[in-house]
Amino acid sequence: MKKITAPMILEMKRSGEKIAMLTAYSFAMAKLLEEAEIPMILVGDTVGMVEAGYETTLPVTMEEMVYHTRSVRNGSGKALVVADMPFMSYQASLDDARRNAGRFIKEGRAGAVKIEGGLKALDAIRAISDMDVPIMAHIGLTPQSVHMMGGYKVQGRGKEAAEIIMDDARAVQDAGAFAVVLEAIPAMLARTITQELSIPTIGIGAGPYCDGQVLVLNDMLGLEPDKKQLKFVKRYAGIGKAVKEAAAEFKKEVESGHFPGKEHCY
Ligand code: KIV
Repeated sequence: MKKITAPMILEMKRSGEKIAMLTAYSFAMAKLLEEAEIPMILVGDTVGMVEAGYETTLPVTMEEMVYHTRSVRNGSGKALVVADMPFMSYQASLDDARRNAGRFIKEGRAGAVKIEGGLKALDAIRAISDMDVPIMAHIGLTPQSVHMMGGYKVQGRGKEAAEIIMDDARAVQDAGAFAVVLEAIPAMLARTITQELSIPTIGIGAGPYCDGQVLVLNDMLGLEPDKKQLKFVKRYAGIGKAVKEAAAEFKKEVESGHFPGKEHCY
Protein backbone atom coordinates (compact mmCIF):
# COMPACT_ATOMS: atom_id res chain seq x y z
CA MET A 1 0.00 0.00 0.00
CA LYS A 2 1.22 3.51 -0.89
CA LYS A 3 1.49 6.30 1.70
CA ILE A 4 -2.05 7.55 2.26
CA THR A 5 -2.77 11.19 1.50
CA ALA A 6 -5.76 13.49 1.97
CA PRO A 7 -6.75 13.19 -1.74
CA MET A 8 -6.75 9.39 -1.33
CA ILE A 9 -9.17 9.73 1.61
CA LEU A 10 -11.44 11.83 -0.62
CA GLU A 11 -11.17 9.17 -3.30
CA MET A 12 -12.29 6.51 -0.79
CA LYS A 13 -15.65 8.27 -0.52
CA ARG A 14 -15.97 8.46 -4.29
CA SER A 15 -15.33 4.74 -4.62
CA GLY A 16 -17.65 3.87 -1.70
CA GLU A 17 -14.88 2.49 0.50
CA LYS A 18 -15.55 2.92 4.23
CA ILE A 19 -12.85 4.75 6.19
CA ALA A 20 -11.57 3.56 9.60
CA MET A 21 -9.78 6.11 11.77
CA LEU A 22 -8.45 5.64 15.31
CA THR A 23 -6.69 8.01 17.65
CA ALA A 24 -3.15 7.32 18.82
CA TYR A 25 -0.74 9.27 20.96
CA SER A 26 2.44 7.17 21.06
CA PHE A 27 5.01 5.49 18.83
CA ALA A 28 4.13 1.99 20.11
CA MET A 29 0.39 2.29 19.50
CA ALA A 30 0.86 3.93 16.10
CA LYS A 31 3.06 1.01 15.07
CA LEU A 32 0.34 -1.46 16.04
CA LEU A 33 -2.32 0.53 14.16
CA GLU A 34 -0.03 0.60 11.14
CA GLU A 35 0.29 -3.19 11.30
CA ALA A 36 -3.52 -3.40 11.45
CA GLU A 37 -3.59 -1.26 8.26
CA ILE A 38 -5.61 1.58 9.76
CA PRO A 39 -5.49 4.20 6.97
CA MET A 40 -5.87 7.32 9.09
CA ILE A 41 -4.56 8.04 12.60
CA LEU A 42 -5.78 11.04 14.55
CA VAL A 43 -3.48 12.49 17.18
CA GLY A 44 -6.47 13.84 19.08
CA ASP A 45 -6.40 16.43 21.84
CA THR A 46 -8.30 13.75 23.78
CA VAL A 47 -4.72 12.85 24.78
CA GLY A 48 -5.26 15.38 27.56
CA MET A 49 -8.15 13.39 29.00
CA VAL A 50 -7.13 9.78 28.36
CA GLU A 51 -3.36 10.08 28.86
CA ALA A 52 -2.80 13.18 31.04
CA GLY A 53 -5.93 12.85 33.19
CA TYR A 54 -7.37 16.34 32.59
CA GLU A 55 -11.14 16.74 32.94
CA THR A 56 -11.44 18.37 29.51
CA THR A 57 -9.25 18.82 26.42
CA LEU A 58 -8.87 22.55 27.10
CA PRO A 59 -5.49 22.53 28.94
CA VAL A 60 -3.69 20.67 26.12
CA THR A 61 -0.86 22.76 24.62
CA MET A 62 0.77 22.95 21.21
CA GLU A 63 4.03 21.62 22.70
CA GLU A 64 2.24 18.51 23.98
CA MET A 65 0.45 18.00 20.66
CA VAL A 66 3.62 18.40 18.60
CA TYR A 67 5.41 15.86 20.83
CA HIS A 68 2.61 13.30 20.46
CA THR A 69 2.29 13.94 16.72
CA ARG A 70 6.02 13.33 16.26
CA SER A 71 5.81 10.12 18.32
CA VAL A 72 2.87 8.82 16.28
CA ARG A 73 4.50 9.78 13.01
CA ASN A 74 7.64 7.85 14.02
CA GLY A 75 5.50 4.73 14.47
CA SER A 76 3.42 5.06 11.35
CA GLY A 77 4.42 4.37 7.78
CA LYS A 78 1.53 4.47 5.35
CA ALA A 79 -1.25 5.93 7.49
CA LEU A 80 -2.29 9.54 7.09
CA VAL A 81 -1.46 11.20 10.42
CA VAL A 82 -3.90 13.97 11.32
CA ALA A 83 -2.87 16.34 14.13
CA ASP A 84 -5.57 17.98 16.22
CA MET A 85 -5.25 21.73 16.76
CA PRO A 86 -5.65 22.31 20.52
CA PHE A 87 -7.67 25.05 22.21
CA MET A 88 -6.10 28.52 21.66
CA SER A 89 -3.90 27.36 18.79
CA TYR A 90 -6.23 28.96 16.20
CA GLN A 91 -8.94 30.97 17.99
CA ALA A 92 -7.03 34.21 18.71
CA SER A 93 -5.82 35.01 15.21
CA LEU A 94 -5.40 33.64 11.71
CA ASP A 95 -1.65 34.05 12.10
CA ASP A 96 -1.80 31.65 15.07
CA ALA A 97 -3.85 29.23 12.98
CA ARG A 98 -1.37 29.32 10.08
CA ARG A 99 1.76 29.09 12.26
CA ASN A 100 0.44 26.27 14.41
CA ALA A 101 -0.86 24.26 11.47
CA GLY A 102 2.57 24.76 9.90
CA ARG A 103 4.29 23.49 13.07
CA PHE A 104 2.34 20.23 12.85
CA ILE A 105 3.53 19.70 9.29
CA LYS A 106 7.12 20.87 9.87
CA GLU A 107 7.88 19.61 13.40
CA GLY A 108 5.30 16.81 13.77
CA ARG A 109 5.55 15.61 10.15
CA ALA A 110 1.75 15.25 10.08
CA GLY A 111 -0.05 14.86 6.75
CA ALA A 112 -3.08 16.91 7.79
CA VAL A 113 -4.52 18.87 10.71
CA LYS A 114 -7.96 18.94 12.33
CA ILE A 115 -9.85 21.91 13.73
CA GLU A 116 -13.08 22.12 15.75
CA GLY A 117 -15.96 24.32 14.67
CA GLY A 118 -18.15 24.99 11.64
CA LEU A 119 -19.10 28.54 10.66
CA LYS A 120 -17.15 29.93 13.64
CA ALA A 121 -13.89 28.33 12.47
CA LEU A 122 -14.39 29.08 8.80
CA ASP A 123 -11.70 31.74 8.42
CA ALA A 124 -9.13 29.50 10.09
CA ILE A 125 -10.13 26.55 7.88
CA ARG A 126 -9.79 28.71 4.79
CA ALA A 127 -6.44 30.17 5.92
CA ILE A 128 -4.95 26.72 6.57
CA SER A 129 -6.36 25.24 3.38
CA ASP A 130 -4.91 28.21 1.44
CA MET A 131 -1.46 27.17 2.74
CA ASP A 132 -2.05 23.81 1.03
CA VAL A 133 -2.23 22.04 4.37
CA PRO A 134 -5.03 19.44 4.25
CA ILE A 135 -7.56 20.26 6.92
CA MET A 136 -10.22 18.09 8.51
CA ALA A 137 -13.15 19.90 10.12
CA HIS A 138 -15.03 18.75 13.25
CA ILE A 139 -18.67 19.72 13.88
CA GLY A 140 -21.59 18.66 16.07
CA LEU A 141 -20.29 18.09 19.58
CA THR A 142 -17.02 20.02 19.67
CA PRO A 143 -15.35 19.22 23.01
CA GLN A 144 -13.36 22.47 23.10
CA SER A 145 -16.75 24.24 23.45
CA VAL A 146 -17.76 22.11 26.45
CA HIS A 147 -18.44 25.11 28.70
CA MET A 148 -20.62 26.86 26.12
CA MET A 149 -22.50 23.63 25.32
CA GLY A 150 -23.10 22.96 29.03
CA GLY A 151 -21.51 19.51 28.92
CA TYR A 152 -20.87 16.71 26.45
CA LYS A 153 -24.37 16.54 24.95
CA VAL A 154 -25.82 15.25 21.70
CA GLN A 155 -26.10 18.13 19.20
CA GLY A 156 -28.44 18.78 16.28
CA ARG A 157 -31.64 17.46 17.84
CA GLY A 158 -34.69 19.25 16.44
CA LYS A 159 -35.20 21.00 13.10
CA GLU A 160 -33.47 24.27 13.92
CA ALA A 161 -30.42 22.70 15.57
CA ALA A 162 -30.11 20.24 12.68
CA GLU A 163 -30.19 23.13 10.17
CA ILE A 164 -27.29 24.84 12.00
CA ILE A 165 -25.18 21.68 11.73
CA MET A 166 -26.17 21.22 8.09
CA ASP A 167 -25.00 24.83 7.43
CA ASP A 168 -21.73 24.11 9.28
CA ALA A 169 -21.16 21.03 7.12
CA ARG A 170 -21.74 22.88 3.83
CA ALA A 171 -19.57 25.78 4.98
CA VAL A 172 -16.53 23.70 6.02
CA GLN A 173 -16.62 21.88 2.70
CA ASP A 174 -16.78 25.20 0.80
CA ALA A 175 -13.90 26.55 2.92
CA GLY A 176 -11.64 23.73 1.74
CA ALA A 177 -11.85 20.92 4.34
CA PHE A 178 -10.99 17.51 2.84
CA ALA A 179 -13.11 15.63 5.42
CA VAL A 180 -15.32 16.38 8.40
CA VAL A 181 -15.76 14.66 11.76
CA LEU A 182 -19.40 14.50 12.87
CA GLU A 183 -19.55 14.00 16.63
CA ALA A 184 -22.63 13.03 18.67
CA ILE A 185 -25.44 13.94 16.28
CA PRO A 186 -28.54 11.94 15.31
CA ALA A 187 -27.86 9.19 12.77
CA MET A 188 -30.43 10.52 10.29
CA LEU A 189 -28.87 13.98 10.29
CA ALA A 190 -25.45 12.41 9.69
CA ARG A 191 -26.97 10.49 6.79
CA THR A 192 -28.35 13.66 5.17
CA ILE A 193 -24.98 15.41 5.58
CA THR A 194 -23.10 12.41 4.18
CA GLN A 195 -25.41 12.27 1.15
CA GLU A 196 -25.11 15.97 0.46
CA LEU A 197 -21.36 16.51 0.91
CA SER A 198 -18.74 15.42 -1.58
CA ILE A 199 -16.07 15.22 1.17
CA PRO A 200 -16.04 12.20 3.52
CA THR A 201 -17.84 12.35 6.87
CA ILE A 202 -16.14 10.54 9.74
CA GLY A 203 -18.58 9.76 12.52
CA ILE A 204 -18.17 9.35 16.25
CA GLY A 205 -21.53 8.82 17.88
CA ALA A 206 -23.15 9.77 14.56
CA GLY A 207 -24.53 6.40 13.45
CA PRO A 208 -23.77 4.02 10.61
CA TYR A 209 -24.36 6.19 7.52
CA CYS A 210 -21.13 8.20 7.68
CA ASP A 211 -18.35 7.50 5.19
CA GLY A 212 -16.05 6.50 8.02
CA GLN A 213 -15.88 5.98 11.77
CA VAL A 214 -13.43 7.10 14.44
CA LEU A 215 -13.02 5.98 18.04
CA VAL A 216 -10.68 7.03 20.81
CA LEU A 217 -8.13 4.21 21.02
CA ASN A 218 -7.97 4.02 24.82
CA ASP A 219 -11.76 3.66 24.99
CA MET A 220 -12.05 0.96 22.32
CA LEU A 221 -9.15 -0.98 23.90
CA GLY A 222 -10.74 -0.81 27.37
CA LEU A 223 -7.65 0.80 28.94
CA GLU A 224 -9.77 2.15 31.79
CA PRO A 225 -11.97 -0.84 32.66
CA ASP A 226 -14.04 1.06 35.26
CA LYS A 227 -14.68 4.16 33.14
CA LYS A 228 -18.34 4.84 32.35
CA GLN A 229 -18.40 4.88 28.56
CA LEU A 230 -20.61 6.92 26.27
CA LYS A 231 -23.26 4.97 24.36
CA PHE A 232 -21.37 5.08 21.05
CA VAL A 233 -18.17 3.48 22.33
CA LYS A 234 -17.64 -0.19 21.51
CA ARG A 235 -14.94 -2.03 23.46
CA TYR A 236 -12.92 -4.29 21.19
CA ALA A 237 -10.44 -5.45 23.86
CA GLY A 238 -9.84 -5.53 27.60
CA ILE A 239 -6.28 -4.20 27.71
CA GLY A 240 -6.72 -2.42 31.06
CA LYS A 241 -7.61 -5.69 32.78
CA ALA A 242 -4.65 -7.47 31.15
CA VAL A 243 -2.24 -4.71 32.31
CA LYS A 244 -3.58 -4.89 35.88
CA GLU A 245 -3.19 -8.68 35.96
CA ALA A 246 0.35 -8.53 34.53
CA ALA A 247 1.43 -5.88 37.05
CA ALA A 248 -0.03 -7.89 39.96
CA GLU A 249 1.74 -11.04 38.73
CA PHE A 250 5.06 -9.14 38.45
CA LYS A 251 4.66 -7.81 42.02
CA LYS A 252 3.92 -11.32 43.31
CA GLU A 253 6.99 -12.79 41.56
CA VAL A 254 9.30 -9.98 42.80
CA GLU A 255 8.06 -10.46 46.35
CA SER A 256 8.37 -14.24 46.21
CA GLY A 257 11.80 -14.14 44.50
CA HIS A 258 10.53 -15.92 41.33
CA PHE A 259 11.59 -12.98 39.17
CA PRO A 260 14.23 -12.64 37.84
CA GLY A 261 14.87 -16.30 36.99
CA LYS A 262 18.20 -17.79 35.84
CA GLU A 263 17.28 -17.07 32.20
CA HIS A 264 17.06 -13.33 32.94
CA CYS A 265 20.57 -13.10 34.45
CA TYR A 266 23.95 -12.27 32.87
O1 KIV B 1 -9.51 14.57 20.05
C1 KIV B 1 -10.06 13.56 19.56
O2 KIV B 1 -9.71 12.42 19.86
C2 KIV B 1 -11.16 13.77 18.62
C3 KIV B 1 -12.00 12.59 18.27
C4 KIV B 1 -12.93 12.31 19.38
C5 KIV B 1 -12.67 12.77 16.97
O3 KIV B 1 -11.38 14.86 18.20
